[in-house]
Amino acid sequence: METSRNAAIKDYINSLFIREDVDLLNAKKCNAILPNIAIPENVGKLLYLLTKLQNPKRILEIGTLGGYSTIWFAKAAPEAHIITLEVNPDHASIALDNFKSCNLLERIQLLEGDARATLQHFVETEEPPFDLIFLDADKENYPLYLPLMLKISRPGTLILTDNLIPKDEQINKSLPQDGISNGTYLYNSLLAAEKRLETILITTIVGSKGRLDALGASIVIE
Ligand code: SAH
Ligand code: DHB
Ligand code: MG
Repeated sequence: METSRNAAIKDYINSLFIREDVDLLNAKKCNAILPNIAIPENVGKLLYLLTKLQNPKRILEIGTLGGYSTIWFAKAAPEAHIITLEVNPDHASIALDNFKSCNLLERIQLLEGDARATLQHFVETEEPPFDLIFLDADKENYPLYLPLMLKISRPGTLILTDNLIPKDEQINKSLPQDGISNGTYLYNSLLAAEKRLETILITTIVGSKGRLDALGASIVIE
């Protein structure tokens, strides 16, 4: 009952407030052969508005898939340089095709490889800080990403994190062997305890059944 009501709410909001442009629609079509785990349209519009508020010049995305979310960021920040990290070469290749189709290759740099190694490299080579970081990759390792993201941030950096409510029925209880749920709940508790961050989870309605998930929004304050 509640989930179908949630799905109807999502459809209602989307029908009023979401118009994907030709680039987003085209990317979505080309991404049909990939796992169906890109952000939904409503999360895309939320990221888009948060990005406009932040007015970032340098954006880092961790987890590209086919670049659907990357394109939302590019639309929201037409001047920004975007670096997006992807470990799977098949995903990276489709994402590059999509960026090319929307003439975004000049300002989107896709770095292939394990994102944690890339972040470590950024720290070692003193890569300038990012104004906005979007984490949407391996959930079991979310806790390991947090200190790395903080190292490439400045006061004022906006850190956004996808999928902060795991799919399980019970909230904040996960089986010992469930790496995704354990990683996510541990990450949430680290966000809450982190003195350098102010954070809230913005609940989102996702999937055809209207499940509740959340997007983490954290501002680096020191
Ligand atoms: N942000 C995308 C969806 C990303 S799905 C969108 O909304 O359109 C998660 C992606 O993270 C997958 O493509 C997966 O291959 C990638 N990934 C998983 N672990 C990774 C790692 N350690 N380093 C880099 N990418 C990783
Ligand atoms: C799923 C959804 C996501 O947004 C993601 O990043 C990974 C997996 C999923 O629905 O399984
Ligand atoms: Mg996600």
